[in-house]
Amino acid sequence: MQLKLLILWSWAVLWAACGGAVEPTAVPTPPLTAQEALGKTVFQQNCASCHSNVAGQIIVGPSLFGVEQRAASRVPGQDAKTYLLTSIMNPGAYVVEGFDDLMPRSFAKSLTGEEIDAVIAYLLTLE
Ligand code: HEC
Repeated sequence: MQLKLLILWSWAVLWAACGGAVEPTAVPTPPLTAQEALGKTVFQQNCASCHSNVAGQIIVGPSLFGVEQRAASRVPGQDAKTYLLTSIMNPGAYVVEGFDDLMPRSFAKSLTGEEIDAVIAYLLTLE
């Protein structure tokens, strides 16, 4: 009888220990909305050759990871969305320090309004 209890007790302790040892799961990244997913495709096809979406990785242009933070303070009077839109439509309007004015000026013509809105929505998820 006592042995049975002991086994039951050990089993309970083990069970509790295992439960307590469960690793805290990382906060899952929310899935992209349909617009953001379209923006990701636009980014991969038109921007990724020069811009990384990984922090600190410079290709030809700066990494666009966390760009929302910078975008909001780059040009006085421009909020993040306005700055990003201007950067795409008229890249020469503001040239990031340390980089050359190499970004193509063709996106205003080659991308649709929907694609531009989508890529901006995607850039705002990179944080
Ligand atoms: C041929 C290379 C090239 C391509 C392709 C390109 N860019 Fe750029 N981009 C640059 C360079 C170089 C800079 C930095 C100089 C400047 O500000 O114009 C830049 C700057 C930017 C900035 C400003 C970043 C900051 O930190 O202020 C944004 C936003 C941006 N690009 C978005 C895009 C998007 C979106 C696309 C695709 C639709 C794209 N770029 C495609 C080269 C490129």
